[in-house]
Amino acid sequence: MKVFVAGATGALGAQLVPQLVAAGHEVVGMTRTPSKQDGLRALGARPVVADALDPDAVARVVGEAEPEVIVHQLTALSGKMSLREARHPERAAMAKMTNRLRTEGTDHLLAAGQAVGARRFVAQSFGAFRFARSGGPVQTEADPLDPDTPAPGLDAILHLEQAVTSITWGEGLVLRYGGFYGPGTGLSLDPDAMMAGPIRKRQFPIIGGGSGVWSHIHVEDAAAATVAAVERGDPGIYSIVDDEPAPVGEWLPVVASALGAKPPRRIPRWLGRLVAGEVATMMMTEARGASNAKAKRELDWQLRYPSWRLGVTKGLG
Ligand SMILES: NC(=O)c1ccc[n+]([C@@H]2O[C@H](COP(=O)([O-])OP(=O)(O)OC[C@H]3O[C@@H](n4cnc5c(N)ncnc54)[C@H](OP(=O)(O)O)[C@@H]3O)[C@@H](O)[C@H]2O)c1
Repeated sequence: MKVFVAGATGALGAQLVPQLVAAGHEVVGMTRTPSKQDGLRALGARPVVADALDPDAVARVVGEAEPEVIVHQLTALSGKMSLREARHPERAAMAKMTNRLRTEGTDHLLAAGQAVGARRFVAQSFGAFRFARSGGPVQTEADPLDPDTPAPGLDAILHLEQAVTSITWGEGLVLRYGGFYGPGTGLSLDPDAMMAGPIRKRQFPIIGGGSGVWSHIHVEDAAAATVAAVERGDPGIYSIVDDEPAPVGEWLPVVASALGAKPPRRIPRWLGRLVAGEVATMMMTEARGASNAKAKRELDWQLRYPSWRLGVTKGLG
């Protein structure tokens, strides 16, 4: 099939493009950065340049590509966050831009897809830290989200999920990825990686016992699930996470050890609120993980790293 990938150069896109090519698809990859075109060619895609927030530019490149499937991987999450922003992530420039890409960017791609007669649309979403904090430790796609979550961007995520799954001109699938780790992500061997850097420096403490449950996903497995969603599966929402949701108090020491760091510090909840803020404290103490049962069953998706335990020892670099 001809597949148009918006966000083809990102952490996920860089894994996705070669996997799509290897599966026999013809890939057109969008970037807003002309200097990244050669990199896309090297991955096997035909590059196109457009700003996702410019509806005319998006309509032009999608119209010229005439894809059967559009994949939306646009975010602005890979930059750096200052400590002040980490305390109030809703104020961070990367959160505001990601909200725009998930609202305006989604609408422009959907309009362009409908106009060109695409028949399938697969979009990146994010489920972690947004489940209602009243249910069990592991939640499914049918479980409610928390309307009062302090985590930023819920409105934009709901917009994307609703807009994509309600299209009538094609099949809309939403992939709620877990926390990415692996090459190019915030948890990798890169010394400056957004999460791995502070973990190495013991600046990523376990707050309040670390009972918050996180679902991780290796970026290579996230890309494999995306290839599966391009090829099959009914419209709807899928959690793309590994088999082992785990409390922070369990996974963080293992990850620190895999990075060659000393064990993480432990601080009480009141101090966490003070130094790390409300969002980080919620993530560390109250977050719920997600089940991948639906994605495995309906997308026929196999994981190379079914557990983060294996992934952080074998798949970070
Ligand atoms: N995904 C999550 O749920 C999540 C949550 C928290 C943190 N993280 C971390 O953030 C990173 C996310 O990886 P990712 O692959 O989702 O994102 P990414 O690596 O930041 O890639 C974003 C993609 O979107 C494109 N893009 C952004 N704005 C654009 C615009 N205005 N017009 C056209 N294209 C635009 C970029 O294109 P160009 O730059 O080529 O123009 C790039 O291809 C990882 O490091 C991950 O660990 C992810």
